[in-house]
Amino acid sequence: MKNTIFLNTDREMPLLGLGVYKMTNGSEAENAVVTAIRAGYRLIDTASVYKNEESVGRGIARCGVPRKDLFIIAKVWNTAQRMGDVQGAFSRTLERMNLDYVDLYLIHWPVPGCYLHTWKELEKILDSGKALAIGVSNFEIRHLEELQKISDIVPAVNQIECHPLCYPKDLIDYCQSMGIQVQAYAPLARGAYLDHDVMCILGTKYARTPAQVGLRWAVQKGISVIPKSSRPERIVSNGAIFDFSIQQEDMDIMDTLNEDFHSSHVPEDLRGIMF
Ligand SMILES: NC(=O)c1ccc[n+]([C@@H]2O[C@H](COP(=O)([O-])OP(=O)(O)OC[C@H]3O[C@@H](n4cnc5c(N)ncnc54)[C@H](OP(=O)(O)O)[C@@H]3O)[C@@H](O)[C@H]2O)c1
Repeated sequence: MKNTIFLNTDREMPLLGLGVYKMTNGSEAENAVVTAIRAGYRLIDTASVYKNEESVGRGIARCGVPRKDLFIIAKVWNTAQRMGDVQGAFSRTLERMNLDYVDLYLIHWPVPGCYLHTWKELEKILDSGKALAIGVSNFEIRHLEELQKISDIVPAVNQIECHPLCYPKDLIDYCQSMGIQVQAYAPLARGAYLDHDVMCILGTKYARTPAQVGLRWAVQKGISVIPKSSRPERIVSNGAIFDFSIQQEDMDIMDTLNEDFHSSHVPEDLRGIMF
C-alpha cells in the first residue's frame, strides 16, 4: 500500500505522522521528532497551543532529512481567532519553528462567530506561499457547509478524532465526497482501545499490537493517522503499519466497535477551551 495520499492541492501528504501534543518544549519533543523521522515518519503535527514549536523546529533542523521531504502541520489557536490575530499567530509559529513555510495550516477549532473570518485570513496565508495548503480541524458538516458559502477554497484536510471507538462515518463520507482529506487525531484513543477484547484478538490474528491494528484500520480507509508517543520503541512500532493488511471481514467487525467515545473535546465543549 502506498503511504501517501494526494490532497486537493495536488500535493502529496504522508498517511502517517507523529503527533506531539503534551510533549514538553525541550528534549522530549525534539528527540521524538528526530526519532520519528529517522524511523521513516515524514509528517509532524503540532500546534501553537502545544507550546513545543521551538523543540519541533529543532528536531526538524537536526533530523538529517531535507525540509522539502517533510510535511509539517501547524494550527491557529482559539485565542488568536477571537483576538483577530491570525496573521500574527502564523508569523510567530514560523518564527518559533524557524521555518520559512508550513505544508499545512489548520484552524484548530471552529470558534463560533470567528471561524469564517479566520478562514479568510488563512486564504491570505495560502496566497503568500507560506502555507502550501490550508485546512480545518474539529469541523462538523454544518461548519464545512458554512465555509463553502463564503469561500471557493475547499479545505485540504479536516483533522478530527477518529479510531475504532469513535468512527464518525457520516462526517468522513461527507469529507471524502467533497475532496477533503480526513486526518485522524488521537488515533490510539489515548490508549482506550488497546486492551479491548476484539482489538487484542485481531492483534493476535495478525501478529501485531492492537495499536498497529487500530492505525492500520484507519489508513486502510484512506485516513491519515498521527499517533503520539515519546517512547522510541512505540514510535517505531506505531509506524510499522504498511507491511500488512486487515481482511475486509475484520475491517467490518472493527467498524461495529464505534461507541462515539471521545478522548478529546467535541465542538460543543468549545466554551470550556476558549482560553
Ligand atoms: N486537532 C485537535 O484538536 C487535536 C486533538 C488531540 C490530538 N491532536 C493531535 O493528534 C495527536 C495524537 O493524539 P493524542 O496524542 O491525543 O492521542 P493518541 O495518539 O491516541 O495516544 C497517545 C497516548 O498513547 C500512548 N501510546 C502511544 N503509542 C502507544 C502504544 N503503541 N502502546 C501503548 N500506548 C501508546 C502515548 O504514551 P507515550 O508517549 O508514553 O508512548 C500517549 O499517552 C496529538 O499528539 C496531536 O498532534 C489534535
